Amino acid sequence: MYKNKKYFTSTLLSWNEKENIRQMPWKGEIDPYKIWLSEIILQQTRVEQGWNYYNSFIAAFPTVKKLANAPDEKIFKLWEGLGYYTRCKNLIATAKFISKERKGNFPKTYEEILALKGVGPYTAAAIASFAFNLPHAVVDGNVFRVLSRFFGINEATDNSSGKKLFADLAEELLDKTKPGAYNQAIMDFGAVICKPKYPLCNTCVLKAKCVARITNQVELLPVKSKVIKKRKRYFYYFVVECNNKVFVRKRGPKDIWENLYEFVLLEQDNKISVEGLRQHSFTKNLAGRNNIEKISISRLYTQQLTHQTIAGRFVYLGFKKELTVKHYDTISFKTLKELPFPKFITEYLAENDVQNLGDKNVSLNLLKR
Ligand code: ADE
Repeated sequence: MYKNKKYFTSTLLSWNEKENIRQMPWKGEIDPYKIWLSEIILQQTRVEQGWNYYNSFIAAFPTVKKLANAPDEKIFKLWEGLGYYTRCKNLIATAKFISKERKGNFPKTYEEILALKGVGPYTAAAIASFAFNLPHAVVDGNVFRVLSRFFGINEATDNSSGKKLFADLAEELLDKTKPGAYNQAIMDFGAVICKPKYPLCNTCVLKAKCVARITNQVELLPVKSKVIKKRKRYFYYFVVECNNKVFVRKRGPKDIWENLYEFVLLEQDNKISVEGLRQHSFTKNLAGRNNIEKISISRLYTQQLTHQTIAGRFVYLGFKKELTVKHYDTISFKTLKELPFPKFITEYLAENDVQNLGDKNVSLNLLKR
């Protein structure tokens, strides 16, 4: 029912051949392990950032067996900053599955690839088409945008009928003789030309027949029916140091950042001011009767996750006297560098020389009582 389908596919493919717009280390790769790795990383981050992660992973684990045999902690450390650690756990589980159950042989059919932990239809289509030239079209936000604009589709992309419409159209448009090239072309086209904001309509090779452009709807498409409300959480981290050691714990399951480490946490539903933090009973309890040497309160940090926003500060507390903090263990600064932390914390660590925070003469005469 949509017009210009053949034109769309052939124009997109010739644009891809001529422009070869983005160079990426996994482009043209046919080793399914490497393609899988790149796609799992790209589920998490943009191409520019994913590039370094990909190279580090390939250098550390050139084969699926190497990845499968590596200690989890080493893999989590390389994953640090990518977020959403369930994906990293799935990556480890899948590497072990392929290495042990399949003797290191990556599955070769779409259905078997889709059955791997952490691999959804998009990733399965990407791997199947890039590695094995199998005719499966990728469908994601990029594809919704390109198709909704070119064909002028006003159906919402986030309900089941809309999803089916776009998935069917994407399969129809796929060049079955060059599925890998077609999939890469639409990914790159969506990322570089038909962008969410400021799309490059003037130089677009599809502009002559793009319905959104002709009918002035580029900014209105694609359509979404639901507004996702984000949960807001406030994390106040107490960086408690004594004798060159800091208190940390490993986060548990059923919440964000599973298996990552963190400092002593005070979680709140509401914001606390800097002064409020100084006077907070949590701070006073930590300080207790111990000799507090230094205190330093950081700027506000925020991190956007898919369904929640985390905001908060770090309160550095330096002690001379030995102390214990229930449920937390002490580690050295050397170990601190080796353990995986959420991005929220690594950002603070990168900006603050925590090891020397205690030496700086931050005069913080709080807790004077
Ligand atoms: N996003 C997901 N997979 C990709 C790929 N292979 N190239 C560019 N962007 C992508």
